[in-house]
Amino acid sequence: MNIIIDENSNVSSEIQSFLMAAAEKAVSDEGLDPSLVEISLTVVSEEEIHELNRMYRDTDRVTDVLSFPQYDDLSDVDNDEVIALGDVVICDAVAHRQAEEYGHSYEREFVYLFVHSVLHLLGYDHMEADEKREMRAREEEIMNSIGLTRGFTPAEDADLFQELMRRAEEASANSYAPYSGLHVGAALLAEDGSIYTGVNIENASYGATLCAERSAVACAVSDGCRKFKAIAVYSPDGKASPCGICRQVLLEFGGDIKVIQKGDNGGLHVTSVAELLPEGFVL
Ligand code: THU
Repeated sequence: MNIIIDENSNVSSEIQSFLMAAAEKAVSDEGLDPSLVEISLTVVSEEEIHELNRMYRDTDRVTDVLSFPQYDDLSDVDNDEVIALGDVVICDAVAHRQAEEYGHSYEREFVYLFVHSVLHLLGYDHMEADEKREMRAREEEIMNSIGLTRGFTPAEDADLFQELMRRAEEASANSYAPYSGLHVGAALLAEDGSIYTGVNIENASYGATLCAERSAVACAVSDGCRKFKAIAVYSPDGKASPCGICRQVLLEFGGDIKVIQKGDNGGLHVTSVAELLPEGFVL
């Protein structure tokens, strides 16, 4: 697989390895030999993609990605010579913005846009509902196959999130849970890097119980802190997912707060408050 990245385009080596894996999967699933396939990639500014969109698609606005396929029909290409599939153009500023909106990493968004575009180069489209369903399913399959599931976290955040989970686990030792016996701990990461922990505090009148997440929020807010990046939730059974009330309380401080739970194989499962509480109540 040959991905020719424009020399002025800055693409990290981490992203490049995801692009390679994704393109190889996409191409070989179509019966093409990846070693013969070339795709070119250019990363541009908002002004540049706006201009390209206007020139080539007669659409006068900024967009996230543009695809310029070389072939209308790949069914009759020769599978023993180099196949230049076409060009992918991604706007990194829009990718950054969308990553924030969707509450996932820039890396995931960038690779997703590339996958979407490569599928266009391979002849997929999303004009009709059934085509769109098929294209989305292919995108999801490719993203999952390269490990960029919805909970993907870039390497630099992964250590921090592990540390946050460790603090949540440590805190759970102080949980007051004589009724359920479920000792939950939470660790809330503030924007300034400080970590506030909390535990569940049960009550004989069960409804008066406070969850670990809200107890961490109460500590942080009492300390004057209002801006948060992430919260890790630990429970011994590994299943703790913030309850509805905690989701609403966290939403008060931002839908983009990452929510970290234990995942499979010792990993972490990362979502966001907005993902866990779509269309939550705000004033
Ligand atoms: N609990 C939490 O602290 N956080 C959650 O995310 C879910 C549930 C607590 C509340 C109660 O003390 C116990 O778990 C069983 O419901």
